[in-house]
Amino acid sequence: MSDVHSLERDLLAAIANAGDEAALEEVRVSALGKKGSISELLKTLGGMNAEDRKQKGPLINGLRDKVSGAIAARKSELALAALNARLQAERVDVTLPARPEPRGSIHPVSQVLDEITAIFADLGFAVAEGPDVEFDDYNFTKLNIPPDHPARQMHDTFYLAPQADDSQHLLRTHTSPVQVRTMLKQKPPIRVIAPGRTYRVDSDATHTPMFHQLEALVIDEQTNLGHLKWVVEEFCKAFFEIDTVELRARPSFFPFTEPSVEWDMRCDRSGGQTIFGTGHDWLELGGSGMVNPHVLEMCGIDPSRYQGFAFGFGLDRMAMLKYGAPDLRPFFESDIRWLRHFGFAALDIPTLDGGLSR
Ligand code: PHE
Repeated sequence: MSDVHSLERDLLAAIANAGDEAALEEVRVSALGKKGSISELLKTLGGMNAEDRKQKGPLINGLRDKVSGAIAARKSELALAALNARLQAERVDVTLPARPEPRGSIHPVSQVLDEITAIFADLGFAVAEGPDVEFDDYNFTKLNIPPDHPARQMHDTFYLAPQADDSQHLLRTHTSPVQVRTMLKQKPPIRVIAPGRTYRVDSDATHTPMFHQLEALVIDEQTNLGHLKWVVEEFCKAFFEIDTVELRARPSFFPFTEPSVEWDMRCDRSGGQTIFGTGHDWLELGGSGMVNPHVLEMCGIDPSRYQGFAFGFGLDRMAMLKYGAPDLRPFFESDIRWLRHFGFAALDIPTLDGGLSR
């Protein structure tokens, strides 16, 4: 009977060693197939006498049951291993975001705002903010524009419904109230920019009721007009991405600055396009000046010790010029075709070293 035992040992070893289902099938055929070793043994039972058959029958049948049991067990083991290997290989991280074509884009005003913030951050300015709905006091009075001052008429203000105490909130007509807010809560030295939305009752090709300004405020013990000019010049060079700029200063008037200066930048518009740095045209940047001592005083800063400058430039106009948009109105019409044409990729964040506009 040792041949039954050794056959069993060999077959069980072959089953255990079968590395995949095909190898296992080969073992099965070799043992239980038509001409398999166990099938051959089973056939011998028919030619045996009763005595032998009684003895060998259970042995051979037992071998067959054992081997087919072992094959079935190994088969499910192999199937499980194959499934696991496949799951591992075809694994998908369902938490990964889908990556469709980007559909939105960055509005030129947002782009310009990010560019400006990067430039001024490099010059050591922080960003200050104020609300769109402003107190009359901050928009006018503390900026040296008392009630009944004629400068109020120049601003075409949107007023909100009167409060119970008769005071009236308004939509800020410029970003200068952020100067007031900053001085009221921060002691010098102050060095901030305040870009943001402003509102005036006005609408044509170059004016919209809502527009954007860029305010800047520097207060310390030394800052003078020369510093103002340098900052405006450096800003223009960085923003328009040119090496030389030529600025022209015109005397002006704002109640909150003394003296007041308006700045123009030399450019060439003769070819239909605007080229900066050469030519015989002048591009208006906006107003500025040394902060009026009276304003410092109303905002809790000692004018005998501190001084500084402020400016307020039109941000939309800078975006129009830099990116060649001829009309201001479509900026705020939310036309997706216009946005696709002028828009910027969402992840191209402007930096001074990486390139502002690319
Ligand atoms: N606020 C002024 C305007 O809207 C601009 C300005 C800002 C002028 C700061 C001087 C200083 O026209």
